[in-house]
Amino acid sequence: MTNLLTIQNLSTYYAQSQVLHRLNLEIKSSEIVALLGRNGAGRSTCLKAIMGMVRTEGQIQYRDQSLIGLPSFKIAQLGIAYVPEDRAIFAGLTVEQNLKLGIKPPLRAESAWVWRLDDAYALFPILFERRAVAAEVLSGGEQQMLALARSLLGNPDLLLVDEPTEGLAPQVIAQLLDFFVSVKQRGVAILLVEQKLELAKQIADRFLILGNGNIVFDGRWGELIENQSLRQEWLEI
Ligand SMILES: Nc1ncnc2c1ncn2[C@@H]1O[C@H](COP(=O)(O)OP(=O)(O)OP(=O)(O)O)[C@@H](O)[C@H]1O
Ligand SMILES: [Mg+2]
Repeated sequence: MTNLLTIQNLSTYYAQSQVLHRLNLEIKSSEIVALLGRNGAGRSTCLKAIMGMVRTEGQIQYRDQSLIGLPSFKIAQLGIAYVPEDRAIFAGLTVEQNLKLGIKPPLRAESAWVWRLDDAYALFPILFERRAVAAEVLSGGEQQMLALARSLLGNPDLLLVDEPTEGLAPQVIAQLLDFFVSVKQRGVAILLVEQKLELAKQIADRFLILGNGNIVFDGRWGELIENQSLRQEWLEI
């Protein structure tokens, strides 16, 4: 299968400080890839680099298009959605207004599934109940649901999500995991930054570990869990 996203020799810089060092990674259609690593390893930087939000060198190829040098809005228009850690919802707008702002028709006629407002409400019924409420009064979990649902209404092929379960209750987390699986089943690939291995394990097809600015592991759960020294070196504190 051809790659949806191919990153080669990606280096990123904040002023003089380099975070990623010639990183390589690939994502195929409809797969959930968990991006793991210690705090400060550069996981958020990797997502920002894909979205054109940090200074980079190297290649980022999405389908048949290079993303290098494109502004973030263009990258989003090509079909990559990004849900940052702070969720970036419009606090003063209602839930439904936030969702409607996310609506974009699919880019490709062959898209298997077109996401509509009703799908967002079906995936997260609480958003329907709270559709007329200002986003700022939602709970943290509801805000995360809103951010995820809104990103989907842009009909992306690839969803980049940064630590969505951080600080949320187990019932909410369970709903988010179900959401990711539903989205994948309808053909969307997901690159998920997730700190908790036990959660990533439940949904990810493949695991990447970021260390020293590059990918130090790329494999399945079985390989990851068998390799204790790898986990000790790059994940456990
Ligand atoms: N805007 C910035 N300016 C300068 N340095 C930054 C900036 N953002 C991040 N960094 C630095 O880059 C490194 C990687 O940060 P990044 O946010 O990508 O890590 P992370 O793996 O997402 O970890 P965490 O989410 O736990 O902070 C860290 O050393 C961080 O301090
Ligand atoms: Mg981060």
